[in-house]
Formats: sequence, structure tokens, C-alpha cells
Amino acid sequence: MVSLLWFLIAPALLSAASQSPLHSSWRKRNKETVQKIYNLTIYPANAKIITEGASAVPTGLFNANATGRVTPVGEFSGFQDSIEYFFGLAALPTGAPPNGAITNATLVDFTTGCAEVAASTVYLTLSTINADGSAGAYISTLKQVAFWHFDEEGAVLQYDAWIPSIALFGNLPHDSDPAGQRGTIQGVCDLQAQTCVGNNTVYDSAAACNQTLSAKPFGSFDEAWGDNVVCRTSHVLLTKFRPEVHCPHVGPTGGGKCVDVEYNDVCFNDEFLFGEPLGRPFNCPDEDDD
Ligand SMILES: *[C@@H]1O[C@H](CO)[C@@H](O)[C@H](O)[C@H]1NC(C)=O
Ligand SMILES: *[C@@H]1O[C@H](CO)[C@@H](O)[C@H](O)[C@H]1NC(C)=O
Ligand SMILES: *[C@@H]1O[C@H](CO)[C@@H](O)[C@H](O)[C@H]1NC(C)=O
Ligand SMILES: *[C@@H]1O[C@H](CO)[C@@H](O)[C@H](O)[C@H]1NC(C)=O
Ligand SMILES: *[C@@H]1O[C@H](CO)[C@@H](O)[C@H](O)[C@H]1NC(C)=O
Repeated sequence: MVSLLWFLIAPALLSAASQSPLHSSWRKRNKETVQKIYNLTIYPANAKIITEGASAVPTGLFNANATGRVTPVGEFSGFQDSIEYFFGLAALPTGAPPNGAITNATLVDFTTGCAEVAASTVYLTLSTINADGSAGAYISTLKQVAFWHFDEEGAVLQYDAWIPSIALFGNLPHDSDPAGQRGTIQGVCDLQAQTCVGNNTVYDSAAACNQTLSAKPFGSFDEAWGDNVVCRTSHVLLTKFRPEVHCPHVGPTGGGKCVDVEYNDVCFNDEFLFGEPLGRPFNCPDEDDD
């Protein structure tokens, strides 16, 4: 009965959908939501979020239960985790070369087949920042491809994103660059010494941190998830938000985040991560009836 009814009314709904003002309104809404999210990675909008935390994120962009995966960085559960990833990892000018930050977020591809689901590709331009805060010289471009699932109000509830070739994007140190790797370890150890203090201390000193991390595999920026240095380079940036949560990830054990994971366990655990059958979050509801 239900399917017969559906058969009868679906053609009418489908043809109405392609013309109705409702269609263009959620199309515009979804695109704006995604563009607004990426706009907040642009300096100095990201700096405000890094300083002020969740309260600086406009309402309506992420659902309180926003959850997703960003390959090759990790998985993020809940609003706080998600916004820390999206904005906390966006570069801040350091004052030292290359003094870079994101200065442009262009949605080069965007499609949305229903109110619930969209797919996008964004190019995030990294440039130097001038003394007056304006964009200076071009440094590099970060690409992110993502599927999005929106709640009834149009806020992001689920996402599955991919950043290809992070190592090449950042010209980051690899195995043939031991001096570069030592510098990266020192950077992680110096930063955690500022943010992981008091009862959030995870190393006795920056030197102890250096000793522990120098003994670990460096890792690859194209597989940032593991008990390695690379994983800690991203998690150390998050210690500014919630040191009690993120310092253990930078510490000797990896705190359950910077730990060795099985490819099959973390790349395909959709049902666990999203709490829905495989494929459900990122297909339009009516496609189930095909
Ligand atoms: C994103 O930022 C650009 C550049 O500042 C601006 O022109 C555009 O209106 C913003 N888009 C949204 C949806 O906020
Ligand atoms: C988030 O999930 C919890 C637990 O399932 C639920 O009670 C709550 O209503 C959800 N919040 C939103 C905004 O959907
Ligand atoms: C961002 O980059 C795009 C693509 O290169 C360009 O068309 C646009 O004008 C730039 N936006 C700003 C605000 O610089
Ligand atoms: C850790 O330090 C924070 C901030 O100083 C404090 O709020 C918290 O109660 C401390 N926790 C413990 C277990 O001492
Ligand atoms: C860190 O440890 C490595 C390996 O023991 C050593 O070569 C390097 O000099 C140390 N760096 C600092 C800043 O102490």
C-alpha cells in the first residue's frame, strides 16, 4: 500500500521538486552553509574561533551532534570535536616565515540532490599575511572533497571528507629530511610545553617530549592517524581548545587518538561512526526506493 501510494505520487513530487521554489531554497541554503563553514577557516575568522572557542561559531552551521571523518586526519564526534577540527587546524600566521594562513575558500564544485545531502570540493588558498592582516603572496592550495548530510534545519549533522596529498600541500618533511623532522618534533614539543601544563601535563619537559617522540615513527602526512609524530602535529594544535581532552593525544601513549589503527577499522566504520546503515547518510532518502 505504501509503495503503491508512493508510485502514484512520486512522479508528481519529482516534477514539482525540480521547479518548486522550495528546491532552490534548500539548494541555496546548503551551498551557503558549506561556503560559510569554509569561510570561517579564512584568517582572521579562524583566529577568533581559536581564541574564543565554540561561542564564536555562528549557530546553524553544525548540529550539536555533528559527526564525521576527515581522511587522513581522523574522526570527530559532536559539535565541539567538529568545530575544533574545521577551524582549529586552519593555519594561523606565526610571525615567522612562511607566516601563512588561509586567505580564500572557493567552492569549485557543489551539488545537492535533495535537502539532506550535498557534495563539494573546496580550494583553500594559503598565502602569507601582511602586517595589516591582508593576504600577501601565494603559498599553496589545500583541496578538500566532502559529502555532507544536513539536519532538518539545514545544519551539518554528518560529513565524510578527504584531503588529498597534504604532504605536498604543506611541503612537509619526509623521511629523506631528518633535519626537517627534528624541527617538526621540536615544534610539537615546544607548543605542548605551553598548552599542556598543570594537571594536563603529559611530558616532564620539552626535552623528555623530544626524546619520546624522536623514538617514534615519524609517520606520513598522507596517513596522519597513528602512534607517530605526524598525528601529534595536528592534535597539538587542538590543545589550545580543550587541553584536558587533547594533551593526552600528544602524550607518550597517544591517548587513544594518536594510536596505531587498522585501515579497515577506521576507513570503513561508517555504521559505527554515523550510527546508520552503510550509505544511508550521504544518499538522498528517495534513492532508497529505486
Ligand atoms: C564567503 O567569503 C567571501 C569573501 O569574503 C564573501 O564574498 C562571501 O559572501 C562569503 N560567503 C558566505 C556564504 O558567507
Ligand atoms: C543529539 O543526540 C542526543 C542523543 O542521541 C539527542 O538526545 C539530542 O536530541 C541530539 N541533539 C540534536 C540537536 O539533534
Ligand atoms: C578567491 O579565489 C577565486 C579563484 O581563484 C577568485 O575567483 C576569487 O576572486 C577569490 N576571492 C577573493 C575574495 O580573493
Ligand atoms: C585540572 O585543572 C583545571 C583547570 O585548572 C581544573 O578546573 C580541574 O579541576 C583540574 N582537575 C583536577 C583533576 O585536578
Ligand atoms: C631531540 O632528540 C634528537 C634525538 O635524540 C636529537 O638529535 C636532537 O638534538 C634533540 N633536539 C633537541 C632540541 O634537543
